Amino acid sequence: MGVVLDSQQNELLNAVACDETRSAHSMPGWYYNDNALFEREKSELFASGWVCAGHVSEIAKPGQYMAVTIGNEPVVVLRDREDHVRAYSNVCRHRGMALVEGKGKAAVLTCPYHAWSYGLDGRLRKAPYMDAVADFDISNCSLPEFGVEEWRGFIFVNTNNDASPLAPKLADLEPHVANYRFEERHSIETWFEEWGTNWKALIENFMEGYHLSVTHATTLDPITPTELCEKLASGEGFTAYRSNYRDSSQQREPFPKELTEQERRSSVLFSVFPNFVITVGPNCAVFLILLPETSQTVNIKMGILVQEGADDLQATTDYINLAHEFNAEDRAMLEAIQRNTRTKHRPVSSLAPESFEGTIWDFTRYVARHISEAAS
Ligand code: FES
Ligand SMILES: [Fe+2]
Repeated sequence: MGVVLDSQQNELLNAVACDETRSAHSMPGWYYNDNALFEREKSELFASGWVCAGHVSEIAKPGQYMAVTIGNEPVVVLRDREDHVRAYSNVCRHRGMALVEGKGKAAVLTCPYHAWSYGLDGRLRKAPYMDAVADFDISNCSLPEFGVEEWRGFIFVNTNNDASPLAPKLADLEPHVANYRFEERHSIETWFEEWGTNWKALIENFMEGYHLSVTHATTLDPITPTELCEKLASGEGFTAYRSNYRDSSQQREPFPKELTEQERRSSVLFSVFPNFVITVGPNCAVFLILLPETSQTVNIKMGILVQEGADDLQATTDYINLAHEFNAEDRAMLEAIQRNTRTKHRPVSSLAPESFEGTIWDFTRYVARHISEAAS
């Protein structure tokens, strides 16, 4: 179990984990800033689970790689010569230097410190001067490899290599998202931002429609007001809701022909726990991959998916601009909330009705089930 929480924390997490009545409530300040809890999250949620690392279009060609940090583990995700996506420890087997940073393309991964170099299969190929060392065995220096699963175009990594397959956990989500065919969309823009918020608060914010008409009064309310939100399915590994569009809003185009009338007039927002959220509309999708750095800061890989041939459309540009605007509005709220997590008067309140904040309770219960002593 590792780091131990105090009795008050355990008591609340156990109660949430055991709640079957959906008496949903918000969580106290420590849930968003406690370092012991954050250590537990890294080991119980980020090391043990399937964690989203990126989109396949970020590493479309053999040799392309991207570095991400998952919990405490630096990881390099790459496409090998056989076109398979693979994930390795991004830690040199010599003295621990990071092999790569950011994104790039290479035939071998060469450590910038002393030039040990590794093939795309993770095996050490060259280690200068090391053949003069009697007990050195180059075949024992492969990079540790991690489990990888692709789901609808997104790459998930399991650094403990102990997670059961992801796709079955998302089976109940499939009917709500299948027609959008977002696995056929590509990522035209990915970028990183660091926000001064606890990562769980960001998942909560993205996944609730209660704030849409207030926080986003001029950006999203004209399209997706709070009153038209409806909760969708949830399960062990995900939660979801639909934000229906106002009749007065313009049809977003182009869209896949499979979409039903309602799907053309709504977005589906879902989270694959622990670190992935996305809003999928008829034409575009915006995703956030959360890579927490501390209990109070999160590195976010953001991206926008568009249909083939739609990159240069005005509607796409308009959507990207809108996404930047509503993200900035969310950031302002979340960073202000984070500054209030140390007050003695931080409330524990009822959450809004199921259609608006039911998703938050799904996520809180997921966290509690994995962290609490009741579950272990
Ligand atoms: S740490 Fe990588 S070659 Fe020395
Ligand atoms: Fe928002």
